[in-house]
Amino acid sequence: MSQPISRRTFLKTSAITAAAGGIVLCGGGAFAATYRPPIDLPTTSYGENTMTNQHILIAYASKAGSTAEVAQRIGKVLADAGQRVDVQPVTEVKDLSAYSAVVLGSAIRAGHLLPKAMQFIETHRQELAQKPFSAFIVCLTLKDDTPENRKTVSAYLDPLRAMLPPAHEGMFAGVMDSSKLNFLERTLMKMMKAPSGDFRRWDEIERWAAALA
Ligand SMILES: Cc1cc2nc3c(=O)[nH]c(=O)nc-3n(C[C@H](O)[C@H](O)[C@H](O)COP(=O)(O)O)c2cc1C
Repeated sequence: MSQPISRRTFLKTSAITAAAGGIVLCGGGAFAATYRPPIDLPTTSYGENTMTNQHILIAYASKAGSTAEVAQRIGKVLADAGQRVDVQPVTEVKDLSAYSAVVLGSAIRAGHLLPKAMQFIETHRQELAQKPFSAFIVCLTLKDDTPENRKTVSAYLDPLRAMLPPAHEGMFAGVMDSSKLNFLERTLMKMMKAPSGDFRRWDEIERWAAALA
């Protein structure tokens, strides 16, 4: 996936994979086709309550775990800068009233943020609009950080910007680890010749987090 995934390519490949998946499902392999190994999506708190520091929420949406790890790293950097930080999967966040600022992170799938990340904004839009709000995305296209790929990836954020423009935006390269995908996802990635590896540039991620702090 060193080339950005065009929506057309993705839809074409998805249709073939869905047909292949249908055959597997008809063959009684439903469990095997959709089984994903357990992925660690932790909830973590960093930093002390000093009464003068900010309490920041980093809410993340991740399928294979790489965005969760990026969220944790951003949380650590903010805590090292003196803030108190909670890092949580978006689905576990119930109430934003305790937080002075919110950062939303999402993996990219098929050119979109994960639906649960968009749902998070929809659910909390009014409260988020009253607080400093930033967002980051993790995707494979930025494995090669070219102006063209940046433009492609920046467009992934358009639907989010239309709902609630973030004060700061982060766009990071992610991970392709087929052992963390289900059969259908693995087949799709194979057909798209997606490169395997961990392409996260932690220094870049930490710089972005430090600028937030
Ligand atoms: C089914 C599937 C679709 C993907 N679609 C895209 C895409 O459209 N654009 C992109 O840049 N990366 C895409 N990726 C790569 C993921 O964004 C990348 O693997 C990311 O690190 C996943 O985050 P996660 O581990 O938190 O789920 C896709 C990955 C999978 C498995």
